[in-house]
Amino acid sequence: MSGSIYAEVEKIIEFESARGEPRPDFPPLPEIPGGRYTSAEFHELEREHVLTKSWVCAGRDEDLRNPGDYRLWDRLGVPLLLVRGQDQILRAFYNTCRHRGAPVVRCDRGNTKLLRCQYHSWSYGLDGSLKGVPDERDFPCLDKKARGLIEASCDIWGGWVFVNLDRDAMPLADYLGPLVAELDCVGMENLRTVHVQEYSIACNWKVAMDAFLEVYHINTIHPTNAGIMLDSKAAAMGLMEGGHSRMATRKKMNQGLNFVEFEGAPDIPSMPDFFRANNVAYMAFPNLISPVEPTGFPILLFWPDGVGHCTLQAIYVAPDWGDGDIPAFWDRFLPIFDAVLEEDMMNLAPIQRSLQSGGFTGMMINYQERRIYWFHEEVDRRIGALRVPDKLKVQQVLSPFVEHTLTEAAE
Ligand code: FES
Ligand SMILES: [Fe+2]
Repeated sequence: MSGSIYAEVEKIIEFESARGEPRPDFPPLPEIPGGRYTSAEFHELEREHVLTKSWVCAGRDEDLRNPGDYRLWDRLGVPLLLVRGQDQILRAFYNTCRHRGAPVVRCDRGNTKLLRCQYHSWSYGLDGSLKGVPDERDFPCLDKKARGLIEASCDIWGGWVFVNLDRDAMPLADYLGPLVAELDCVGMENLRTVHVQEYSIACNWKVAMDAFLEVYHINTIHPTNAGIMLDSKAAAMGLMEGGHSRMATRKKMNQGLNFVEFEGAPDIPSMPDFFRANNVAYMAFPNLISPVEPTGFPILLFWPDGVGHCTLQAIYVAPDWGDGDIPAFWDRFLPIFDAVLEEDMMNLAPIQRSLQSGGFTGMMINYQERRIYWFHEEVDRRIGALRVPDKLKVQQVLSPFVEHTLTEAAE
């Protein structure tokens, strides 16, 4: 993020804090149909046109640094194998043997020189090429060159592995757009995993994600943590091309309440003070949310497990602490963050039950919750307007409020 953008976001925070009503040109947002959270048909459209055609985060590359390191990954309901080649390139393959479809690898992770299918021992190189076929003479038509493992797109950004089931996907850096430059100051590639936790939640993945796209609820749901740390009225919502977004919320500083003020708090010195004064949470479409803090922070990933279930995966990364024990700071940070998540989750399964009850028509989204609406608009753009059933569509209204438009207008 350039200095002028920081200044601009600070100005917007100031405006939001002082305003008596939404900015005058902002339209009331139409309802988001409740069926988008409960319909099997819509869920299938999301799976087919959004989740399997987007870059999604498959964790850190810390455990895949050496040639031959591999790990299985199955969050999209498709068994993938991530493996580092002799050429240092990390690749993603379907973990599906080209002989008769058995999983090539059974162990969750490991290191190997050759990927040998555990059914009839067809073997593949780390680049996926078919190397060996027992009794090859019995396959007179076999063209080994055309029978390598099927590949998915795979790339790394800041130590995070991303995969995209679409082989023709645009480059990851283009997909992430403005987030790449904005988050360059974090030096993600130098961070180290400090904790990983998963939560299984009986709600649609979007119900869970919505709870992290606004701060309207924090005084009600989080009165002893996020509610006292942040000034929910002083929050700037930045909508970005591609469905991504940013929410910068001013911290209530000088009371020792915020993580950056805790004794012994780690610090990422390359991050500007903007991130110490404000909680800056990013959403990378379609399912990654991260409140980026100079102390270290989690990324939250929301994985659908069917229409009414999801898994929230929290991966916490921190500045490298060397050979010693994990800094004591994390003994304070992690329980507080976990408490925030637990408070959010209390609500989510009951919301899903309500949405399915027939007693709910649609979500009424207010001005400060507009990142949720922006996400839904992008989902429809990806699915394609003609495919979304009329009763489940959201109207496209927020494009004029995309951040670059505001920036240009201000110039
Ligand atoms: S299915 Fe893999 S070798 Fe037969
Ligand atoms: Fe919350």
